[in-house]
Parts: sequence; structure tokens; C-alpha cells
Amino acid sequence: MTAQNTPLSDERVLAELRKVNDPDLQKDIVTLGFVRNLSIDGGAVRFDINLTTPACPVKDQMRDEAERLVEAIPGVATVSVNMTAEVQSSPQMAKGALENVRNVIAVGSGKGGVGKSTIAVNLAAALSGSGARVGLLDGDIYGPSLPIMLGVTAAPDHADGKITPRESAGLRFMSMGLLVKTPDQPLIWRGPMAHKAFQQCLFDVAWGELDYLVVDLPPGTGDVHLTLAQSVPMTGAVIVSTPQDVGLQISVKTLRMFEQTKVPILGIIENMAYYICGHCGAKDPIFGEGGARRAASEMGIPFLGEVPLDMAIRSQADLGTPIVVADPEAASSVVLRQISEQLAAQVSIRNYNAPVLEIE
Ligand SMILES: Nc1ncnc2c1ncn2[C@@H]1O[C@H](COP(=O)(O)OP(=O)(O)OP(=O)(O)O)[C@@H](O)[C@H]1O
Ligand SMILES: [Mg+2]
Repeated sequence: MTAQNTPLSDERVLAELRKVNDPDLQKDIVTLGFVRNLSIDGGAVRFDINLTTPACPVKDQMRDEAERLVEAIPGVATVSVNMTAEVQSSPQMAKGALENVRNVIAVGSGKGGVGKSTIAVNLAAALSGSGARVGLLDGDIYGPSLPIMLGVTAAPDHADGKITPRESAGLRFMSMGLLVKTPDQPLIWRGPMAHKAFQQCLFDVAWGELDYLVVDLPPGTGDVHLTLAQSVPMTGAVIVSTPQDVGLQISVKTLRMFEQTKVPILGIIENMAYYICGHCGAKDPIFGEGGARRAASEMGIPFLGEVPLDMAIRSQADLGTPIVVADPEAASSVVLRQISEQLAAQVSIRNYNAPVLEIE
């Protein structure tokens, strides 16, 4: 009997679905165990495709392909595909102190003011918008800027000896800026105090179940980085760079620091990569094009995308709502959402392939 004549069966449907590949994990969706709850009722076929992240960049493409292939099977009248997602824990995470947090993602940069906090808050909000459970920790204990960017400055509540994270833009959020009485004062910490202050923001918070905890780091390579790298098993770090970052040298230094602390690099994002004219919307690559993309490829690191220099990104941050939430259809929001999907894909790839490393 040829495949064409085979009666409609689970096997026949699964044989077609084996032709659908996850381009990130490079295996078919049946082998990956993504196909669930397959049912055949007369000519009506139903199944779920359970992805490793709701922010999957090729979610629609996979659904369309699956639908098309199954529809073409003789005897199939209707196909109903339900897309679901379950974010996998980083294999390291299971042993960590934050047991309900599946992935910790740090956002760092070599120098200050490149837009780490802006990118961190937008990526976190975009991941949350996709349906993931997301926390955002302001790791910049020296100059916390996220309370302003999220429009939250009131001190958090406590319950059962833990800090209840504030909620904004769909995120559970914590910052040292919420604990100090004088937000305008610079926060000066000696090494051991910095370590303690940061640990409090990380461990004394009732984060609940999180798919992703995004940590916005202070610039450079200091105490907070070390504390973070040594106290939680991170899925990885994202480096934010700007075109002015001469030959990306400063970012490379940050990269080496993460490598030394055994933190995998999930990718590089180029911020302020080009200018979008506030009047006509024209795109102007004032600093040249493709520098970070080239450097990333030379270093064998994923390039996650370019974010424009866009006045709307800054003004929304100043107003306390990230642009991806305030104006989801804006060109910059579309780009930031795509980058969040690339990031989620890198996390899935890491978790699928990662060996379990011991933290020292
Ligand atoms: N793509 C962008 N377009 C326009 N303005 C931006 C963009 N990215 C960041 N900014 C603005 O640049 C300033 C610095 O950004 P941000 O605070 O995010 O940088 P940072 O790297 O976190 O700084 P720090 O090192 O001090 O923590 C802010 O005013 C922010 O609104
Ligand atoms: Mg910052």
C-alpha cells in the first residue's frame, strides 16, 4: 500500500508532521516531541504544537506548514492546530537557588549609556507580551534607572519575609531604587555591601514561577557581574553595543569577562544602529552599517538585531511605559519584538544543547 492509499491514521499524520522542522533546534517537530493531543474524528484532525517558547520567531511559519501538509492528506477535511508553549529550564537552573525561575538572562555592556536598561526593559516586556512569565531585575544598584522607565517608584510590599515584586508592563519587577528613600542620591556601595545589596534584590524577592528573569547589569565588569555569575546559574548574557564602540573593543572585554565566569553569550544587540527621522521616518545609518553584525559573525556569536536611534524609544522610557507596550505597532517596537524572539530562540537552543556545567 502506498502512502497515498494509507487510511487516515495517527501514523499518517505524524509522517507528514515529520517534514516540519524547527529551524533553531534543527530537528523535526515529531522527533522533538512538540506534537501533542493528536485526534482524528472522521476527516477532522486536531493537534497541539507545543513549542519551547511562546516568543518563537517561526511560530506562524511552523503552524502554516503543518496545516498545509496535513490538509493535503487524502481524507482530511479540516485541520485545527493549537499552538502552545512550555519554556524549558536551563539545565543548570534546576540546581540553583532560584528554583522557580527557568532562565536567567543578563543584559550587559562594556561602557555606560549604550541603552542596556532601555533594551532590557523592552525585551522583557516583549517576551511577556508573547505570553511568557517574565521578571525584570534592575541589577544596577549604583544608578537604578528602571523604576522611571517602568513608572514605578513606590516601595514594594513584603509578605512572609519576602519582597513582593512590583508589576508593570506585564513584568514582575524589582530594583534597589524601590528600596531607597532618596531616589536622587547616588548609591555608593563598597564591594561586600554591593554584593549583599544585589543578592537581596535577587534572592529576597518572591518572584514566583518565571520563564525568564532578565537582569539589567550596571556598565562595565564589576562586583554585580561577579556576584550574579557566582550565585545563580545563568542561561546566558546578552551584550548591548553601539556603532561608536570602536571596533567593538569594549564589548569584547565584557564578552571575555562573561566567558571567564563561564556565562554563555546568547548574542549581541546593536543599539542606536541607525537613525529614524522623527519627521519623515527615513532611515539614516549615520555611523556606518553592519559593524556589530560583522564582529559578531567573526567571533561566532549570534547577532540578535539592530535597534534604531529613535526619539520615541527615549520618550516612552521617560514616560514610564516601554515602547513595545505603549506603541506596539511602531517600527522600533516591531524590531524590538523580533530581537526578543531571536533571544528566546537562542535560550531554547542553549537549553536543548547545553551540557550541565558546575558553578565554581
Ligand atoms: N535606541 C534608542 N533610541 C533613542 N534613545 C535611546 C535608545 N536607547 C537608549 N536611549 C536613551 O539613551 C539614554 C541611555 O539609555 P539607558 O539608560 O538605557 O542606557 P544604559 O546602558 O542602561 O546606561 P547605564 O550604563 O547608565 O546603565 C536614555 O535616555 C535612553 O532613553
Ligand atoms: Mg542602565
